[in-house]
Amino acid sequence: PRHFDFVVVANRLPVDRVVDDDGALHWRRSPGGLVTALAPVMQEADGAWVGWHGASGETLDPFNHEGTDIIPVPLSEDDVEQYYEGFSNATLWPLYHDVTARPEFHRAWWDAYRRVNRRFAEAAARAAAPGATVWVQDYQLQLVPRLLRQIRPDLTIGFFNHIPFPPQEIFAQLPWRREVLEGLLGADLVGFQRSGDARNFVRAATRLTGASLSRVTPQLRTMVPRTQSLTVDPGLPTAHHCVAEAFPISIEVSQIEALARDPKVVDRARRIRFELGNPRTVLLGVDRLDYTKGIRHRLKAYEELLKDGDLTVEDACLIQVASPSREQVEEYRILREEIEGTVGHINGAFDTLGRTAVRYLHHSYPVEEMVALYLAADVMLITALKDGMNLVAKEYVTARVDNTGALVLSEFTGAADQLKQAFLVNPHDIDGLKSAILSATRVSRPEAARRMRSMRRQVTTHDVRGWSTAFLERLAGLAGQHQETP
Ligand code: G6P
Repeated sequence: PRHFDFVVVANRLPVDRVVDDDGALHWRRSPGGLVTALAPVMQEADGAWVGWHGASGETLDPFNHEGTDIIPVPLSEDDVEQYYEGFSNATLWPLYHDVTARPEFHRAWWDAYRRVNRRFAEAAARAAAPGATVWVQDYQLQLVPRLLRQIRPDLTIGFFNHIPFPPQEIFAQLPWRREVLEGLLGADLVGFQRSGDARNFVRAATRLTGASLSRVTPQLRTMVPRTQSLTVDPGLPTAHHCVAEAFPISIEVSQIEALARDPKVVDRARRIRFELGNPRTVLLGVDRLDYTKGIRHRLKAYEELLKDGDLTVEDACLIQVASPSREQVEEYRILREEIEGTVGHINGAFDTLGRTAVRYLHHSYPVEEMVALYLAADVMLITALKDGMNLVAKEYVTARVDNTGALVLSEFTGAADQLKQAFLVNPHDIDGLKSAILSATRVSRPEAARRMRSMRRQVTTHDVRGWSTAFLERLAGLAGQHQETP
């Protein structure tokens, strides 16, 4: 088997399996910023990607896709049920998103999480060349850094958490909190979306494990004034330092801008507005159908605005794209029924023969169509109750190349740290949400342009390549100065 100097480990592979009309099976690069950000790094560094191919009970051999080496990790039906749907998405997901749904704690799920994390760590250990760098992604694989360090102390290990890290008081509910923290502490560098997440992690680690805050070397302190370094308990098999720091993720700006300027996409945006009957205001929501996204709150505010007569179906329309997600998990099924019931209820009350209040689309769309929707929308509504980053916010402002449009953005998203000129809202405050929606609808052109220009500047100067470069450079810097023998 080949060995690689750079290995990415993520629950999902960077390719999706697609079946042609004639039944032929092949792979297509997955959409999304992470895959785009890492593609050039993978090429330059001779990298491999370890991940699950999305189907259960099937073992696939490693293969190469457009220059990227793919190492599939098999999951059985039980693994999918207990590690992926169970522990990852019915325990950790709600727990890490401030218990917006009730996390379930089951010992059998934890056993599966441990077992599958070990499988990923072993696959990465087999693939990595001596002294290689391994970058582990996200909450599904928090035990991998330590497991990997135990098998391969020669590796430099980074971890990035794409979702929030909860306050210690919430995290402490997890019966296996210590093992999870020690898993993460196996990394040389643990990256988070917001500095608050990094602080939560450091607090939890110092209270719930033997780790202690260490003095940051002067060199590191000048590089990153807010960095936090932990000395990991020497009782662990390998004593070392673990640095926690924020690296806010972003999008592939050039791709979104190019599409926003593509005449076909611009034309499609015009067509979308025409098909809606050219309302004065098009409002847009785009989310995975997930209870963390605050879709209920958004619909509630919109319904009240229609009831109050502040908006009417003659002059406004809300497009809500809800892409199907995790449909085997019960909470997601309940949510779908609720949302679809509410949409039916609103449309029943306010639609006319020619106009509709909410266009609800339970689909996922290719990026071209998404950008057309962004261009068609006067107001983008992001009302997440908790969200690690929310890349839709960054995509929307990037697509508004003429500086029109308005963004209503929940302050509980990572994006709110960077997009301060949005109409920031607390989505739990329905009255506040209603008035923010109205302000965004009625904002003057110069005021809208001023806000949009400044948000666009933020995103266009911080794209996803900058994110991966910043993380990997920091990791490379730590590799030398932080390695200690036990
Ligand atoms: C979030 C997570 C990702 C995950 C994605 C889609 O963005 O941070 O790790 O891949 O949701 O969810 P899924 O369960 O379909 O992979």
